[in-house]
Amino acid sequence: MENLWSNEVRGVVPDDFHGRVGWQSPSNIALVKYWGKRGKQLPQNPSISFTLSECHTETFVSFAKAERFGFKFLFDGKENPAFGAKIEKFLDENQAFFPFLNQLALTVESRNTFPHSSGIASSASSMSAFVMCLLDIERSLSPELVERPKGRPTTINPQKASYFSRLASGSAARSVFPKMALWGATNCYPNSSDEYAISLENDIHPVFKTYRDNILIVSDAQKSVSSRAGHALMEGNPYAPARYAQANENIKNLLSALKSGDLDSFINITESEALQLHALMMCSQPSFILMKPNTLQIIDTVQRFREETQIPLCFTLDAGPNVHLLYPDNEAGKVEQLIKDELVSYCNNGSCIADHIGEGPKKKL
Ligand code: PMV
Repeated sequence: MENLWSNEVRGVVPDDFHGRVGWQSPSNIALVKYWGKRGKQLPQNPSISFTLSECHTETFVSFAKAERFGFKFLFDGKENPAFGAKIEKFLDENQAFFPFLNQLALTVESRNTFPHSSGIASSASSMSAFVMCLLDIERSLSPELVERPKGRPTTINPQKASYFSRLASGSAARSVFPKMALWGATNCYPNSSDEYAISLENDIHPVFKTYRDNILIVSDAQKSVSSRAGHALMEGNPYAPARYAQANENIKNLLSALKSGDLDSFINITESEALQLHALMMCSQPSFILMKPNTLQIIDTVQRFREETQIPLCFTLDAGPNVHLLYPDNEAGKVEQLIKDELVSYCNNGSCIADHIGEGPKKKL
């Protein structure tokens, strides 16, 4: 599997080869969480996510034939070697897949539509946006690779995009699909794989295609534990085997709830997964408490509101203190009122991002 796409491009880059490509790619929010990895960016358990829309990265890559590999990275219009380092590392580790790179100079320009300091992980959107650009360059270099279904525009193979996005940042594997994605092998879903994510779009009840996600920014401070360090801490965590078994069970039950539109099970599994992720961090060595008092205030308010109104509003968390509020579109009026009346006061400077389930990457140039 490792060499799935390694031999597609061969040969010398033409002297006049140059151009500019651009892609936007969304962030995603996991419902069943990926926490713990093995080997080369392989997950210890399968995960399922909503693809977002408003929270995305736009990346443009200018490329030109050069004597040797060249790389410059600009974030928000300014050179930012620290942000570019992760992409350079990815390219370095995977150069065998992209042999044309050592004859190209690249200038990467990237920006996020969500504030960098919002505490929202940007690696899923930024890495998948870059991979889409890279595969676009590869495609223009290799006309024989172009898939041209009759009467339709050329496409980039989403499975291949997911595979390389995964190598750049695990959760990025799920960002290249519309609506919802499953990453990780499970015998509950055909063709699922640890190597790339697959689309769940055709296996979910219509109600989930209307889902909104309001992200309540409790704190915009940088995370005190990187996800790389967090995954590594799972290796010594005594609860790890139980966690992986539980995640597989949650995948099975969530897939069935997604198909039937069973909102009660969806809520149960989603909230339990969020709390388990934080429980795992709390019992790792060293341990981390990433929730803040206001995170708990929001969770408490959401659960009380659900109890009182029977409105199927639930929460999930990423590896940080900010809270994602998930609910179907037809409940937007009442949930927005709740946010305004009670929840916004728990947010940092009233900061909240209104997002919704989205369509996956889009070509910009
Ligand atoms: O893709 P990474 O290595 O940044 O890990 C992401 C981990 C979580 O966001 C906490 C969970 C997930 O599945 O996205």
